[in-house]
Amino acid sequence: MKKKSIFFVLLSMFLFSSCDKINKEITDLRCEYAINPQGIDILTPRLSWKMVSDERDVKQLSYRILVASSLDLLNADTGDLWDSGIVESDASQNIVYAGQALKSRTNCYWKVKVTTNKDEQEWSETASWSIGLLNDADWKAQWAGLDKASPDDVLKGKTRLAARYLRKEFETENKTVKSATLYISGLGLYEAYINGSRIGDQVFSPTPTDYDKSVKYNTFDVTKLIAGGKNAIGVTLGNGRYFGMRFDDNQELTGRQYFGFPKLLAQLEITYSDGSLQTVASDDSWKITTNGPIRANNEYDGEEYDATKELAGWNKVDYDDSAWQAAELVAAPAGKLEGQLNPNIKIMETIQPISISQLNSDTYILDMGQNMVGWLQMTVSGEKGKQVKLRFSEVLQPDGSLYLANIRGAQVTDSYTLKGEKSETWEPSFTYHGFRFVEITGFPGVPTVAHFAGKVIYDEMENTGRFESSDTTVNQIYKNAYWGIRGNYRGMPTDCPQRDERMGWLGDRAVGSQGESFVFDNHLLYAKWLDDIEESQREDGSIPDVAPNYWPIYSDNMTWPGAYVIIANMLYEQFGDKEPIVKHYDSMKRWMSYIRSKYVKDNIMAKDTYGDWCMPPESPELIHSEDPARKTDAAVLGTTFYFRMLTLLEKYAKMLGKSDDVQLFADEATAVKASFNAKYLNTETMQYSNNTVTANLLALCYGMTPEEYQKGVFDNIVAKTLDDFKGHVSTGLVGAQWLMRGLTDYGRPDIALKIVTNRDYPSWGYMVENDATTIWELWNGNTADPGMNSHNHVMLLGDLVVWFYEYLGGIKAAEPGFKKIEMKPCTPEGLNFVNASLNSVYGKIESAWKKEAETFIWKITVPANTTAVVYIPATAENEVSESGKQASTVEDVKFVELRDGYAVYEIGSGKYNFSAPCK
Ligand code: BGC
Repeated sequence: MKKKSIFFVLLSMFLFSSCDKINKEITDLRCEYAINPQGIDILTPRLSWKMVSDERDVKQLSYRILVASSLDLLNADTGDLWDSGIVESDASQNIVYAGQALKSRTNCYWKVKVTTNKDEQEWSETASWSIGLLNDADWKAQWAGLDKASPDDVLKGKTRLAARYLRKEFETENKTVKSATLYISGLGLYEAYINGSRIGDQVFSPTPTDYDKSVKYNTFDVTKLIAGGKNAIGVTLGNGRYFGMRFDDNQELTGRQYFGFPKLLAQLEITYSDGSLQTVASDDSWKITTNGPIRANNEYDGEEYDATKELAGWNKVDYDDSAWQAAELVAAPAGKLEGQLNPNIKIMETIQPISISQLNSDTYILDMGQNMVGWLQMTVSGEKGKQVKLRFSEVLQPDGSLYLANIRGAQVTDSYTLKGEKSETWEPSFTYHGFRFVEITGFPGVPTVAHFAGKVIYDEMENTGRFESSDTTVNQIYKNAYWGIRGNYRGMPTDCPQRDERMGWLGDRAVGSQGESFVFDNHLLYAKWLDDIEESQREDGSIPDVAPNYWPIYSDNMTWPGAYVIIANMLYEQFGDKEPIVKHYDSMKRWMSYIRSKYVKDNIMAKDTYGDWCMPPESPELIHSEDPARKTDAAVLGTTFYFRMLTLLEKYAKMLGKSDDVQLFADEATAVKASFNAKYLNTETMQYSNNTVTANLLALCYGMTPEEYQKGVFDNIVAKTLDDFKGHVSTGLVGAQWLMRGLTDYGRPDIALKIVTNRDYPSWGYMVENDATTIWELWNGNTADPGMNSHNHVMLLGDLVVWFYEYLGGIKAAEPGFKKIEMKPCTPEGLNFVNASLNSVYGKIESAWKKEAETFIWKITVPANTTAVVYIPATAENEVSESGKQASTVEDVKFVELRDGYAVYEIGSGKYNFSAPCK
């Protein structure tokens, strides 16, 4: 491969500065899909890399992986842990480590060398992973804390609790420190410091789980922070989801979870160059106080910070902690300790407010210009003891004050008491808000936008996709979706970020997760969420509607728990990760058996809980429609989804070689289909049940409709949409999962485009028309009852984002992980261009088409080591050219056939420029 043809973005964070041979063609080395994961407990991790080249048709022929226990050994090309030898294979994803047995604390450094059909490469950049503490015996640390409240704390109802500050001084030995590693879990949330320096830039760590089932810890290389002689470690503990935001008197009844007072497990291991080890571990020799500046912290209600109570120097040496008490040894949480693999949450962006206005003498309203999720940083100066209050909302009332009715019981108030310094800059630690507007009271002097900054906070994941089109409504809807998706990741996908809810509702994310996977590298987050779901499964097989299990709602339906099965498929297709299917297959099967034995009668699953949730109601103030004609029958939702589960489980059983199960699921699916059609399909009118779009669409898209009725059923979808709903959406969360794709697949992309470009009710464009900068929970979010009316919910997106990328962009995985790509852009009348790209696990896929004069021009990029089948809208092969030549004469372009109005070609990697006369 010619070096000049190579482009490479230097991702310096992935690189080791001591690595002398930097290869520019192999990049993004990942272990278990993470970049340099630390403290993992996977003993046969899977290794992956990307190849970058803009040369055409580059294929990997072989690879060789070296894994070494030190960087020096690796740099000397010695793989003492594993040398895979040269393996003839085009696999560059998920190569299972097969070297020496890995033990607790092993550091693994690795690199890879490949040969391609073009040439032999040099060694790649270097990456690493490390193994955490695998055995109970590795943990010298004990859970420490204080299992009691302070006078200001409130343990019932809207709980409030002061943050807990823990500290420990220790002395290093008089030897050279070779390395230092901190293993830490602080529940609910921790911030850790060594000698006053913050460890990492994560917030809200560790990731939330059902702490009775599992507890995650984080691992950090802290070598650089260790000083010779005296050192101090300090940790602040916040409540997070461990000390619940609410604890009702009827808690026993509702079962809402509350785990206990915050607690810390920390183990600092210092290795000296002579090989000796010093361990500093949490126990009752640490000191603790609740008498610090964070007086209260609660994710719904906000944070109360009193700067006059700051403990200057508390996390450094020689601090006088005589007023602190000894930490207590407290009971360990019941959950299993595990190394966290999904990314931590971070401040991912900072935005500036666009305006501030005075509401009355002491009240100002700040406008961020965007409904965002995170917190507000404030710079203020004034008298000691003065208190500034910040309250947050998504929308304003007509009089310019905050609209708080839809926030329900959340207090959403941060307060800061000044210490009286010249300039004080503050931001909270253990709370977050979903907001566009902030009410500021008590600010000394006149606040300006320059006093504030919005910190946008969510799980650290790459923004892998880009999408824009020639239509401004489409673009604003995409932007709203982008903000909504990122705002609803909090170590789990949440329903909303602003009111007293913020839970991992399963139904909201079924197909939505696939759309999201085009925008963010959400792989590890969703893999973790499937674990949360599995942990919430009851003995009898039931899967709840919310996971982690903070609100244990086991209502037994198909559409919410079904996300468990659907998302495993998403991870396989979008990221090429089979592991979630392997890992969760038995639990999914158990759930299906439970449903089958308890609810399925005569092949019909009639039990449903939520209906086609939040379909557009007939009048402006309603949350849910009261019109029976708009509601989809429970048994139709239950049975179509049950059928879908059977087909997915049949697919999984096939993948896992479980032939008995394949037969079982296939037979049952056949029986369900027959019974369902016999009962719900009117073969005269070709309508399912009461003819809602959702009923017809689910049956059709799930492959339940016999061929001879498909056209008739689809015609009913079209008629209902055009006649009864005047070209508008008529589905809720369930039907929306197939709406855009269903309409397009059966030949009416024009209706799909109409639905997405509408600006009147009900539509995503109506939200835009009404100044939404995120996606609403309700189609009528500007008029409906505030009892359930979030302005930042992503569930109504359905398959819209999938449609943007797979259909308008023409970027679809034809083989798992986009090893083979189907590029078939849908180019409806009314759209003049689309630019879409996705940084897939194999590399960046790009698709940019435009209609220029009478010509359709399409530039695409196919990553190295993948292939694509490309569909160019054309009626004859000789109409198509590539980079100015007739396409079929170009060496790297293979004509396959003319199909459905497209000329179809197979191509290898590289950049291509196709054109054809506009149809
Ligand atoms: C949540 C939804 C959820 C629904 C189900 C709502 O309160 O916000 O997103 O799926 O309840 O009942």
